[in-house]
Amino acid sequence: MAVRSNLVWLTLALSLFDPTCNAGPVRQREAVPDGFYAAPYYPTPYGGWEESWKQSYAKAQALVDKMTLAEKTNITGGSGIFMGNSGSAYRVGFPQLCLQDGALGVGNTDHNTAFPAGMTTGATFDKDLIYARAVAMGKEFRGKGAHVFLGPSVGPLGRKPLGGRNWEGFGSDPVLQGIAGALTIKGVQEQGVIATIKHFIGNEQEMYRMYNPFQPGYSSNIDDRTLHELYLWPFADGVHAGVGSVMTSYNAVNGSAASQNAYMTNNLLKDELGFQGFVLSDWLSHLSGVASALAGLDMSMPGDTQIPLFGGSPWKFHLTEAVLNGSVPVDRLNDMATRIVAAWYQFGQDKDFPAVNFHSYVSSEKGLLYPGAVPASPIGKVNWFVDVQADHASVARQVAQDAITLLKNDDDFLPLSTKTPLRVFGSDARVDPAGPNACGSRACNKGTLGMGWGSGVANYPYFDDPITAIKKRVEDVKLYDSDNFPLILSPSPTDDDVAIVFINSDAGENSFTVEGNHGDRDNDKLSAWHNGDKLVQKAAEKYKNVVVVVHTVGPLIVEPWIDLPSVKSVLFAHLPGQEAGESLTNVLFGDVSPSGHLPYSITKKEDDLPDSVSKLVKEIIGQPQDTYSEGLYIDYRWLNKQKIKPRYAFGHGLSYTTFNYTDAHIKLVNALSSALPPARQPKPSVPVLSTKIPPASEAYEPAGFTKVWRYIYSWLSKSDADKAYAVGISDKSGSKTYPYPAGYSTVQKPGVPAGGGQGGNPALFDTILELDVTVQNTGSTHKGKASVQAYVQFPAGSGYDTPIIQLRDFAKTKDLAAGESETVTLRLRRKDLSVWDTLKQNWVAPGAEGDNGKSKRYTVWVGEGSDKLFTRCFSDTLVCERGVEPPV
Ligand SMILES: *[C@@H]1O[C@H](CO)[C@@H](O)[C@H](O)[C@H]1NC(C)=O
Ligand SMILES: *[C@@H]1O[C@H](CO)[C@@H](O)[C@H](O)[C@H]1NC(C)=O
Ligand SMILES: *[C@@H]1O[C@H](CO)[C@@H](O)[C@H](O)[C@H]1NC(C)=O
Ligand SMILES: *[C@@H]1O[C@H](CO)[C@@H](O)[C@H](O)[C@H]1NC(C)=O
Repeated sequence: MAVRSNLVWLTLALSLFDPTCNAGPVRQREAVPDGFYAAPYYPTPYGGWEESWKQSYAKAQALVDKMTLAEKTNITGGSGIFMGNSGSAYRVGFPQLCLQDGALGVGNTDHNTAFPAGMTTGATFDKDLIYARAVAMGKEFRGKGAHVFLGPSVGPLGRKPLGGRNWEGFGSDPVLQGIAGALTIKGVQEQGVIATIKHFIGNEQEMYRMYNPFQPGYSSNIDDRTLHELYLWPFADGVHAGVGSVMTSYNAVNGSAASQNAYMTNNLLKDELGFQGFVLSDWLSHLSGVASALAGLDMSMPGDTQIPLFGGSPWKFHLTEAVLNGSVPVDRLNDMATRIVAAWYQFGQDKDFPAVNFHSYVSSEKGLLYPGAVPASPIGKVNWFVDVQADHASVARQVAQDAITLLKNDDDFLPLSTKTPLRVFGSDARVDPAGPNACGSRACNKGTLGMGWGSGVANYPYFDDPITAIKKRVEDVKLYDSDNFPLILSPSPTDDDVAIVFINSDAGENSFTVEGNHGDRDNDKLSAWHNGDKLVQKAAEKYKNVVVVVHTVGPLIVEPWIDLPSVKSVLFAHLPGQEAGESLTNVLFGDVSPSGHLPYSITKKEDDLPDSVSKLVKEIIGQPQDTYSEGLYIDYRWLNKQKIKPRYAFGHGLSYTTFNYTDAHIKLVNALSSALPPARQPKPSVPVLSTKIPPASEAYEPAGFTKVWRYIYSWLSKSDADKAYAVGISDKSGSKTYPYPAGYSTVQKPGVPAGGGQGGNPALFDTILELDVTVQNTGSTHKGKASVQAYVQFPAGSGYDTPIIQLRDFAKTKDLAAGESETVTLRLRRKDLSVWDTLKQNWVAPGAEGDNGKSKRYTVWVGEGSDKLFTRCFSDTLVCERGVEPPV
């Protein structure tokens, strides 16, 4: 029951002008820049060959075998926008599935937890916490009866700092996204809820991403190596973790829309990455009928064509027809249905799964059962108000707290004493007086910013705002509840006063424009909203000691005030969700040391990054072309290459205490015996159901069935079914008359060399190097958690142009008391030591033994930020040393 109401109306408004929009392709592809090409790749690889899914596939195949044609096509599509859920096959015991946003908690309901956003979670650099949040979210989805969690989001990767939805993911680095995404999938799916990794792929900006009757969505033109080493990377980790579903994006890749891009879905996702679950379209992004089925899409959501609510659908009854008339091969439909049913079995949803007990579009107990059918919808009980929060607030608070990133702390100004007189500035310090949920989809920026806006949000059950939490601790507090600096300060500033200035920067989905920002931060750019810079500057004029607290969706340019002498301390609290208050005061007053680290770099100027990354693509006519000309060089990879010093580097984060990193050891766990991974096992064959076109009677609409108005069904009238079947079995069958794309084939391929297991060749996930490092809290007063980050430097002269350093693993210590130490372990897998070779179409480890005299030496740098690397370890001599000059 995911809601995209906003988006629907937008699409509707645009689509009303296009009466021809139907199951066929919308239009011919637009030209993309030379060299970018979406190659054909057919057919869709069958699922079911991967060991860990075999049992679920066996059960799924048995169930699908009992389904009629109309039942199979029913479960591969939604029932229509505002109708809720996918279609069922109740006769054989397969329910409607509830697919629900959002990536930070159960969306559009009540009695749920509003967790910190993905970006906040990434900033903890804490695997245990990332996982704990996911377990809690999974329990809440299950408790509400939602089968499918529409998260995690690892695309956008965060290539463009202005991008609107970066905050739903974990940070601008593929490894941070990959590890956090995989742990999220694991935690959610262990609760019996299917996770959906999204958006596949190249959705790095919000504006212009959607196709509409006048303009195609932008094309992300990505070369093969960049795709593998950056954007596909976290998806590979997600598939390796066994993710049950993947959602395609709205945009095109190399000119071909993601919901029907055969190269992306058939080749990269289902063949190379060996994805066993089902691929679904993002809401109303499904453009074509037969073409998308052939290109590997398995589920159409919410079932409608781009003009919703007129009963049209690219699939459902049209898919039934396309199978009967022979255009879509029967085995493709069987594979779609089997993938969906297999995921349901894989996570145990056939046993004791709670019934859906909430409604996305109605908040009262009784209401329209099918709002899309208004005014003809029956009314009934739709909300049971099940409280799924348990003690999850404590996980949410811990994530929010451990994400808080101390960027600057002159003279160890923080922590504050609770005796200090505090003067608090900025409306971001307190919750929106109209209530935290006053703006639908959080599409406004009023009060403390706990999350961005759009479909990736959840309702707040309550909001612990900073000012309330501060007032609980400090007696002498005054809030100036305005974003304009007051003309009169009363009491007048003294040297003892501390000013805390709250500023923020918001972003979200393109379905809403907030204060001139169309999802992306196109209006406010990377500056604080509501004149926040000025507020800080003014406070810094009047007060000797200023602390700046920033709630933000991503990087912010802090140059207008960062060097002012009275700006003593700066805390980035990211997007804390409902637990914004106490998480912050715990840090402000020193109950805990801050331990968050930046999941992106903060540059001094927007154009410290290349135009292709710092600018948004715009086009009035035709398809905007978003060409990834910077290749591998985003964020710190670019800054290091260009020797541009950011204000704060990726991974940076201070503490109230200090840490020493000693006793580093590196060991070889598995020899890197060849540059190429060992050859994969051949793909096992899978049993297939009958590929014969079923009798037309399997599609007949039953007599006497009362249809819900506008609901999308999979049946055909008897005459339409008979007509289609006649074409299917005739010599002029669909398979001969349908204009199949170049390169179309129905013969299963053996599988690409880089594949072989979930996520790719299993050898890519073998640990090669393991590092131990002992971290000691060398301070004398404060406890603290240290973040240990490992970056790889590839062998010199490897022949591959490779970023100087790249994050490969991270670990966080427990809360270490003064003098206490802990040894943490970091691992590098074969893939972490490899580059994608576009000619070999495989991962190549250039430092493997015996590679014609080239250097075999990988250097692993260990430190507490990408610019604070204290120790290096060599992969060949297995020596670690301290106190050497870092490479960046
Ligand atoms: C896009 O085009 C580039 C350049 O030809 C190619 O390397 C890459 O594999 C293509 N990607 C897709 C998804 O078609
Ligand atoms: C398709 O699903 C809907 C919703 O559950 C149901 O009413 C309908 O009977 C199903 N159709 C078939 C063919 O089972
Ligand atoms: C078969 O049905 C599909 C779906 O309605 C349609 O797009 C296609 O053109 C039909 N093919 C033939 C040969 O009638
Ligand atoms: C860190 O540890 C090293 C090696 O034991 C030692 O030489 C150095 O003095 C320590 N630094 C601090 C700040 O304690």
